[in-house]
Amino acid sequence: MTRHFLKDHDITPAEQAELLRFAAAMKNDRHGFDSLNHQGRLRSVAVVFEKPSTRTRLSFQIGIAELGGHPVVLDSQSSQLGRGESIADTAQVLSRYVDAIVIRTFGDDRIAELAQHATVPVVNALTDGWHPCQLLADLQTVAEHRRESLHTLRGTKLAFVGDAAFNMGNSTVIACSMAGMHVRVGAPAGYQPADDVLERAAEINAETGGSVTVTDDAVKAVTGADVVSTDAWLSMGMKDHEQRVADLTPYQLNAALLGHAAEDAIVLHCLPAHRGEEITDAVMDGPQSRVFDQAENRLHAQKALLAWLIGGDRR
Ligand code: CP
Ligand code: NVA
Repeated sequence: MTRHFLKDHDITPAEQAELLRFAAAMKNDRHGFDSLNHQGRLRSVAVVFEKPSTRTRLSFQIGIAELGGHPVVLDSQSSQLGRGESIADTAQVLSRYVDAIVIRTFGDDRIAELAQHATVPVVNALTDGWHPCQLLADLQTVAEHRRESLHTLRGTKLAFVGDAAFNMGNSTVIACSMAGMHVRVGAPAGYQPADDVLERAAEINAETGGSVTVTDDAVKAVTGADVVSTDAWLSMGMKDHEQRVADLTPYQLNAALLGHAAEDAIVLHCLPAHRGEEITDAVMDGPQSRVFDQAENRLHAQKALLAWLIGGDRR
C-alpha cells in the first residue's frame, strides 16, 4: 500500500521514533546514503510549491540530490497548476514520472485529493493545517539537546506560544504527543488548537504518556519548560495583520517570557521569523536559540523520511 505523509499522525509513534533515529544517522554521515538511486528506488521526486519557501525548497532539493535522486521543482506560476489544471489530473501525470510528490499548498482538501489520485507517496511540505516535516526537524533538534542531558524526548516539557490554531500549532501538538512529551499551549481564545486536534492528541497521549494543556496565560505555559517554540502571527495566505498583532502581542517570545522557562531551555522557531513581532532579536540571537540547527535539521529529517517512505530503508 502506498504510504503518504500528509499529517504528523500518518505515521505511528514508533515509526516517528525510528525516523528520528534514522535522521540522526543521516546527519552523522551526511554523504553516506547516496546509493538509493543505484538500487533503482529513488530516482526522481517532484517538489511542488503553491506558496513561497526558502528552507523547504532548499532542504528537499538538496536532500533528494544527496540521496542520489533527481529533484524536479515546480511552482504554480510556471506550471499549468497556475492556469487551473486540476489537482487530480496533476497527480496522475506526476505519478507517471516520479517516485514521490512533495507539495506545499493551501487547504488540506487539496493535498488529500492529490494523494487520492497519486500512485506514489505524497509528502506534505506545509498546508494550512499541518507542517509535519518541520516537526520531524523540531523533534530532532530537541533530541539533540536532551541527549546532552541524558534524557529522551519522552517527558520533555515544550511550550508553544502565539498562534496555535494553524499548521505549526497543530503539528506541534500532535507530533510532540506522539513523542510522549508534555505540551503547554499559551494562546488567546481564537488562536488555540481546534477541539478535533486536541481530541486526537488525547487519544495519542493515552498511548504515549504525553499530555497537552491549553491556557491563555503565556507565563503559565512557559514556566519550567525545557523547550519554548513559536511561529509567525501572520501565516502565508492570512490577512488582518494589525488585529493579529494586537491579539498576540502578550504572547511575544521575549527575554522576560523566556526567563520563566527552565534555565537550560532551548528556543525553537520554524522560520521565517518576524523579528520584533512573535520573537525578539535578543531571543533569536541569544544563547538558548537553536533555530538554525532546527533549519539545518530539515535536510536530515526529510532525507530520512524519503528514504524510509520510498526506499523502504529502516534503521
Ligand atoms: N520553515 C519553513 O518551512 O520555511 P520555508 O517557508 O522557508 O520553507
Ligand atoms: N505558519 C507559517 C509557517 C511558515 C513556515 C506559515 O504557514 O506561513
